Amino acid sequence: MKPTTNARVTFPHKFIVLRLKASYIVINGDIGHSIRLSNEDYEVFKDLLRLCKQNADVDDIIALISYSKSMRKMMLRLLASAVVLFSNNQEQSTNCAITRFPEHVYLGLTDTCNLDCVYCYGSFGDKKVCSYLSFEKAKMLVDELVLNGANTIYLTGGEPLINPNCLSIGEYIVSKGLKCVLMTNGALINENDIELYKLFAHVRLSLDSHLSLINDVTRGRGVYEDVISKIELLSKNNINVYIGSVITQHNKDTLKEFILHLRNKYSITDHSFAHYIPSFNNRDHSLSCSIEELIVCDNDISSTFSDINTTKGIITIFTGNKNWCCGMGVNEVFINPSGDLYPCRMTYTSELRGGNIFIDGYANSLKKLAKIHEKINVDKLECRSCMYKYLCGGACRVYHSSFSASIYENSPDVCKFSEYQIIKHILHKYGLNYTHKFDVFVLETAS
Ligand SMILES: C[S@@+](CC[C@H](N)C(=O)[O-])C[C@H]1O[C@@H](n2cnc3c(N)ncnc32)[C@H](O)[C@@H]1O
Ligand code: SF4
Ligand code: SF4
Repeated sequence: MKPTTNARVTFPHKFIVLRLKASYIVINGDIGHSIRLSNEDYEVFKDLLRLCKQNADVDDIIALISYSKSMRKMMLRLLASAVVLFSNNQEQSTNCAITRFPEHVYLGLTDTCNLDCVYCYGSFGDKKVCSYLSFEKAKMLVDELVLNGANTIYLTGGEPLINPNCLSIGEYIVSKGLKCVLMTNGALINENDIELYKLFAHVRLSLDSHLSLINDVTRGRGVYEDVISKIELLSKNNINVYIGSVITQHNKDTLKEFILHLRNKYSITDHSFAHYIPSFNNRDHSLSCSIEELIVCDNDISSTFSDINTTKGIITIFTGNKNWCCGMGVNEVFINPSGDLYPCRMTYTSELRGGNIFIDGYANSLKKLAKIHEKINVDKLECRSCMYKYLCGGACRVYHSSFSASIYENSPDVCKFSEYQIIKHILHKYGLNYTHKFDVFVLETAS
């Protein structure tokens, strides 16, 4: 009897191919691993693909390619670069919404704010009634999160420091072995208790520009001076400062100078950008940059600062989730001061509420979120026939909904942005940038 290895080789359902001037980049459309092939090697790759099926038996492949040295070599290259994979023949389920508990939990300590930033997704500055998460309730909540796989808790709001329990809650979180990040506008940081701020993995201050004239358009009058004084205070006390900035029409043309200013004057390199997303509570599109503007902006910055990514966190290729985008509700959730659970901070709207932790418990509240997940799975959305579906994961659903009618409907603009990010990420691996000329097409694997 013929000996058999029982091993299989898994080909993706699709290969995405970038045709460059004198070579091809072949990308596994399921997991994003890629390989660059010369024109000649690409022909061998196509010959090999014609012979192989999606889930191929190793013995069959060996028999099929044994006559061709170049095909054997190609097969080894594909396996070495993990563009095709050895499999243990166990089907991996990708359709189960919640297979683990979220590691990143954003905890809203209050629904109010001392500022009224023009783009804020929460309209917290409008709220007349203050709601605080009490220390006792926070302890109950943190105890549940510790038991259920949380790793980092981000104290947010509104403005978390409005809650008088903020620092005690932070201390409790750290005492339970979790990482804690404070997300703040900085105004209420007080020199008297500065030592306590050392408990945070970092203090994330919001600042949109190195120029007060620009920063204060989005963040409010006089805010620039205040944040700068808090950066100085925190840095002087050796507290890790992280700057979070939002890209809008107002600051898009001065971001490079902004990054340099923070580096040169304050030695701050922990700096991340999010672009303004018109959200459920704030649909002001006049602040938004177009996709073309964001691409120019991102290209400009990444060509100077290799460590800064202005389009961070949006696509699956970076996060490793196959069917979902940024991780909303899977790897990240938001809990408001009353204990209501939401898929993410930006989905702070009653329609997307998952349950209440104090009433339903954390695990049950997550189960309620799973119903939303079932619908934002790329195999169920309009995304299902898109070649990028497992690399993009459906992108930021709130960003889609800012152009379309709901988080379940796609916007071509957001898709264009996703395609840009995926291709940029792949080209970067080969020392190329987005300005290189290329065509994109798909090669299907036989099933
Ligand atoms: C809602 S605030 C809460 C914490 C604190 N009050 C602050 O401003 O840092 C958290 C972050 O979300 C950002 N943000 C608010 N609305 C946004 C939007 N529509 N699009 C993108 N980022 C937004 C803010 O700039 C801030 O950095
Ligand atoms: S971004 Fe932060 S500081 Fe500004 S209004 Fe929203 S919660 Fe307040
Ligand atoms: S590019 Fe658009 S259609 Fe394709 S997976 Fe992403 S969001 Fe869906």
